[in-house]
Amino acid sequence: MGERKRIGILTSGGDCAGLNAVIRAVVYRATGTYGWEVLGIRQATQGLMNRPPQFIPLEIEKVDPLLTAGGTILGTTNKGDPFAFPMPDGTLCDRSEEIIAGYHQLGLEAMIGIGGDGSMAILRRLAQQGDLNLVAIPKTIDNDVGVTEHSIGFDTAVNIATEALDRLHFTAASHSRVIILEVMGRDAGHIAISSGIAGGADVILIPEIPYTIDSVCRKIQQRQEQGKNYSLMIVSEAVRTETGESVVSTNRLGQCRYGGIGQYLADEICSRSGAETRVTVLGHIQRGGTPSPLERLIAAAFGVAAVDLIAEEKYDQMVTWQKRQVVSVPITEAIAQYRAVDSNGTLVKTARGLGICLGD
Ligand code: F6P
Repeated sequence: MGERKRIGILTSGGDCAGLNAVIRAVVYRATGTYGWEVLGIRQATQGLMNRPPQFIPLEIEKVDPLLTAGGTILGTTNKGDPFAFPMPDGTLCDRSEEIIAGYHQLGLEAMIGIGGDGSMAILRRLAQQGDLNLVAIPKTIDNDVGVTEHSIGFDTAVNIATEALDRLHFTAASHSRVIILEVMGRDAGHIAISSGIAGGADVILIPEIPYTIDSVCRKIQQRQEQGKNYSLMIVSEAVRTETGESVVSTNRLGQCRYGGIGQYLADEICSRSGAETRVTVLGHIQRGGTPSPLERLIAAAFGVAAVDLIAEEKYDQMVTWQKRQVVSVPITEAIAQYRAVDSNGTLVKTARGLGICLGD
């Protein structure tokens, strides 16, 4: 047993399946093995900005039922950069010192931050500025954090998108339709390529590979000539129109989000090939629900490894998954490398090898 430390844990950025499983693993390791105290910080860094700082004391009894629970019991946000925090009067204010003061007020000796590359860059900047001991755990259904093969949330999102394709298959075949499934992933096509292969899609469009509608229509026609009266297509939300415009919508607060590429493709394919098309936008369903077994496994491994890094006083590190091992790397290294789909990598080659049309 080491000295009795008090550590914090927070979740930042969009939620996903597996976050609670990480929290559970951290509490098991920190309290069970090392006898430390764990405070769960509410609503990402906002919990440290509030006065008094907002937290939940975490014990094994509290986190025990969390293995299969979706979301995050701590709450999270993907808004409100503390270095340019939106104030009620419309101005932006640097509130980083309040967060740093919150950390010290709680008497934390270290903090585990679970987030994507954007959250990690913010947390690291806070840690550097305020001398906070930070260990990071990568999380994002987009799976675009550099260096790690898996981020928390990705595997479950792939499972959900694959199941959606499985279901759409039958209705597409019954009605002789082209059904397009639009999935998330921000600027990376990891969810689309993985679930597209796993779910037997005929066409997979990802932002990393330019496409033409004609190529997609040729594939649909080829299938018809082979007696296959339907086609299943999966498209990543950041795929652009054929002429290169991104398809986004902006709400009344001026926030811009991807969405609508599926409908654009459906209209174009229908008018050029005459095929009857339908669109399903999977949306936030990809972030919810019970984490997959692989997700829980990685969550457990990341949680234990992050606590062990604190025990060794190895800070400014992120845990990563590489070849079924947890390896820690400097946070700067992880956020410096964006991980897009490798257009010459195994998954793209596999898709091509199966005769799946990638639109090019
Ligand atoms: O980064 C995760 C993600 O789910 C993206 O795939 C998606 O574009 C975005 O977040 C949606 O964000 P929000 O929850 O703000 O709508």
